[in-house]
Amino acid sequence: MALSGLENSDLKLIIFGGKGGVGKTSCAIATALALSENFKTLIISTDPAHSLADCLEQQIGFNVVKVDGAVNLSAFEVVADEALSGFKTNHLSELKKLLETSTNLDNQDIEELLTLSIPGIDEVMSFKTIIDFMEEGQYDKYVVDTAPTGHALRLISSPKLLDEWIKVASRMRWKYRYMITSFSGSYQPDEVDAFLLSLKKTVKRIENILRDNTKCEFIPVCIPESMAIMETGRLLSELGRSQIIPRQIIVNNVMVSEECDFCKKRKSSQLPYLKEIGEKFTGLAKVEVPMFAEQIKGLEALDKLKSFLFRG
Ligand SMILES: Nc1ncnc2c1ncn2[C@@H]1O[C@H](COP(=O)(O)OP(=O)(O)O)[C@@H](O)[C@H]1O
Ligand SMILES: [Mg+2]
Repeated sequence: MALSGLENSDLKLIIFGGKGGVGKTSCAIATALALSENFKTLIISTDPAHSLADCLEQQIGFNVVKVDGAVNLSAFEVVADEALSGFKTNHLSELKKLLETSTNLDNQDIEELLTLSIPGIDEVMSFKTIIDFMEEGQYDKYVVDTAPTGHALRLISSPKLLDEWIKVASRMRWKYRYMITSFSGSYQPDEVDAFLLSLKKTVKRIENILRDNTKCEFIPVCIPESMAIMETGRLLSELGRSQIIPRQIIVNNVMVSEECDFCKKRKSSQLPYLKEIGEKFTGLAKVEVPMFAEQIKGLEALDKLKSFLFRG
């Protein structure tokens, strides 16, 4: 089977996830290359290891660059630290004022607290970068290559975490608001309220896109090996909890050749795992990709992978 449905014009965001080393980056780029033949496409990596550059054999960074050799494909690597420090710099005064008005902390405590991270915030900021691109609307398709499972899940669950934080902060504010109203009879919402509201809106925007299966699709990548299957199982349950239900799964590194003894052995050792994948991940279309003799690096190899992902 081949990957299907990605050309639907409503579908904007395609996220690849799975265990480390199973082929997420390779499949994400090959998919982006295929889509870029008909759509203006941006591939975004949220993996701190920044393997896009490696696989494409081209420099990429915290700026959008055109992918050499592809007509309509650009690439971007999100640096979570930069997204986060940009956020902190832009909102330092609101964060400070939130703590000053809602807690009994002294200045030193506040300074210390501000150096700590807000749970989920780095991932939310990475995601916000993606959503901002989507709302700018310069591209038709946004393909996201994530870091191994844990990171992809944090990315998916980050809106929930940040939402909890916003709730606590808003409750603290509520007390402050009550006090001001009691003393002066009225309360004018200030920049901290505006800041919390805008964060809340960001969370909502992210959740709305993630849960809308006409706009967003998550594609798990797996290989016929025990650990990878277990991890895919966990990934799918976690996604389900966030109401994200994939339609298709890539099964990479499938041994097809029987030309040598090694190939034959490898092939027969994969059989029980391929069976397990079939039985365990029912309801998901399986897109099998053979194991190539060489690693997937550069446009030529990616083109070959693309032809397997989109055969027919
Ligand atoms: N079907 C395949 N055949 C041969 N090598 C592959 C295949 N898929 C991926 N690779 C190689 O395996 C390594 C890991 O792939 P990569 O796409 O970086 O995985 P991930 O992003 O999941 O860590 C890379 O060296 C890549 O070139
Ligand atoms: Mg990768």
